[in-house]
Amino acid sequence: MPKFASRFQTLPEYSLASIPQKKRELIARGVDVIDLGAGDADLAPPPKAVEALTAAVQNPTMSRYAFGMGLVAYREAVSAWMQKRFGLRFDPMTEIVPLIGSKEGIAHLALAYLEPGAVSIIPEPGYNAYQGGTLLSNGEPYRYALRPRTNFLVDLDEIPRDVLARTRILYLNYPNNPTAATAPIDYLEKVVARCRELDILLVYDNAYSELAFDGYVPPSIFEIDGARDVAIEFHSMSKTYNMTGWRCGWAAASPRIASVLAKVKSFTDTGQFLAVQSAATAALASYDEFVPGNIAVFKERRDAAVTAFRDAGFACDTPRATMYLWIA
Ligand SMILES: Cc1ncc(COP(=O)(O)O)c(C=O)c1O
Repeated sequence: MPKFASRFQTLPEYSLASIPQKKRELIARGVDVIDLGAGDADLAPPPKAVEALTAAVQNPTMSRYAFGMGLVAYREAVSAWMQKRFGLRFDPMTEIVPLIGSKEGIAHLALAYLEPGAVSIIPEPGYNAYQGGTLLSNGEPYRYALRPRTNFLVDLDEIPRDVLARTRILYLNYPNNPTAATAPIDYLEKVVARCRELDILLVYDNAYSELAFDGYVPPSIFEIDGARDVAIEFHSMSKTYNMTGWRCGWAAASPRIASVLAKVKSFTDTGQFLAVQSAATAALASYDEFVPGNIAVFKERRDAAVTAFRDAGFACDTPRATMYLWIA
């Protein structure tokens, strides 16, 4: 067997990858398993998405390569949704990048910006694609510990200057997996200003933008002045629409940044199945009828879990967003 590349050897085990096997073994032994592993969907996706998928698979043109362009209707639906949800205009063809789930886009993007000696700032604990993309790009991860002391926010002023001077990517994810922290607007303003000053790409992972409770409405990073110069934002169909397995998401950014991701992807994939993009188009259009009811279920679960943990003697904040609890 040939030798492994050193970058492969730097990869740790992906902890969530082994959970399905462990779960299977426990169930086989008769254990009643409650799976608190991945933030996976156990509720049904939007009926309109299922109908659209069913129709699309009957259409032979949907079986062709999607290529990077994908389904123009999906790009347009994403653009309309960004406008409706955040009041922000993104050109469907040049400022939206359709993804095979946001994970692949997040991981692939690093290939364009990192190399030996170039740093990415990775919040820890955090979503594993940030370190995966960094390590597979031969980049240097700088792990920033999220702590209650900073409200689980990354404080760039705590990072040594020589590290910041070599930093090309800052990964931020708010609402946050797994701390459930949210980012105030004045914090985001400060981060955007620092990224502009330091010439750092701000990779803003907004996978949980819709999973929020009690009137809290998570922002887009692009609501911050100047963000279009330095940021790319990732969105996912997974959590909002219970479509984790369908693998569909998108990135939004200025054409200068979006085209970089699109170029990398043109060499690594040929687009998500067009029928899935058609289903995602229908899901986005059914936002008003589907999403509030779905969030209500997660809120009920949040409240039940918080009460149960507190009754059991744990300190546990009531999160304003995400499907996660931070228990001390
Ligand atoms: C913070 C965060 N970002 C991105 C993703 C990836 O989502 P997708 O299913 O779109 O790849 C997840 C999934 O758990 C996540 O928790």
